[in-house]
Amino acid sequence: MGVVASAPAKVILFGEHFVVYGEPAIVLAIDKRAYATVENREDKRLYIRSTNLNLAGYFDNGTFKIEQGDVKEAKSKFEPVKLAINKVAEKYGESVGLNVEIYSTVPVAAGLGSSAAVAAAVAAAVGELLNVKMAKEDILRVAFEAEKTVHGTPSGIDPAIATFGGTLFFQTDTGFKPLEVHMDMPLIIGNTGIERSTRLQVEKVRNLREKHPRIVDHIMWAAREIVLRAIDALKENDLETLGELMNINHALLYGVGVSDESLEWLISAARKEGALGAKLTGAGGGGCMIALTKDERLEQVLGAIQRAGGRGFVARKTNEGVKIEQR
Ligand code: PMV
Repeated sequence: MGVVASAPAKVILFGEHFVVYGEPAIVLAIDKRAYATVENREDKRLYIRSTNLNLAGYFDNGTFKIEQGDVKEAKSKFEPVKLAINKVAEKYGESVGLNVEIYSTVPVAAGLGSSAAVAAAVAAAVGELLNVKMAKEDILRVAFEAEKTVHGTPSGIDPAIATFGGTLFFQTDTGFKPLEVHMDMPLIIGNTGIERSTRLQVEKVRNLREKHPRIVDHIMWAAREIVLRAIDALKENDLETLGELMNINHALLYGVGVSDESLEWLISAARKEGALGAKLTGAGGGGCMIALTKDERLEQVLGAIQRAGGRGFVARKTNEGVKIEQR
């Protein structure tokens, strides 16, 4: 048996998209995790298998050979994994041959940070296997490098939460700061099942901002106020205000064009069933929405999201960031 490490998925509670322009955001680690199992190989091949995606293949001297699934898809999913491994191997001092198995309870390309969770878990597992000392900051750096190959210019929010867990206040220029949140926040995640590209969604906002800078900037400033107010509401265990703020935040995201019909269905179904608030989370254009409810409405809101066509599940926040599960 090899080394197993895991890292959590995330939801952005407030501030997605606007965070790209330096505004603050709040992100929460949830109890869905990506797992990486790694073991040494005799040769120098890097063999990677994703059990959920039914993809397998190996890198041998820079060339990629597919063994299972679509070659293009496998390459795009495995490149960041390879990069993460290479970064750890650099610290180790020589190239290595490994078998890597990835298993994830996080839906992919849905805005829940699956790729960053995989990268963080892989970096931690490989570090442990090779006896390379990887502080959390090192894992963050590696996961961020890997994430750049996926998104182009990511804000860094996903690698940060996958590494540290908990609830983070995040801003690109000042970095992140843990927020102490003591209350339980009953959240339901509704996955529209529509895969979308973060890169394209970010581009959409950029284009709109170039066209209407004064309007979009005001939307961004409103989003900043939402985040600042939400910090107090989190401290005060004020679920109702948080719900209201989620609704306003969603309206702003709708305004910059990143919601879509599939999200609107789920959001309106959740609100009708008594959710305190609901919004898209992450890049939008499909992907996931989140609804905040009182505990006693969890089942009803979950049912409403499912009837509206979403794959719904209840999510709890977790303080556990990246960790070694087995050595
Ligand atoms: O949907 P995700 O997990 O890819 O999150 C995207 C969040 C954005 O703010 C839209 C982009 C970013 O890099 O922060």
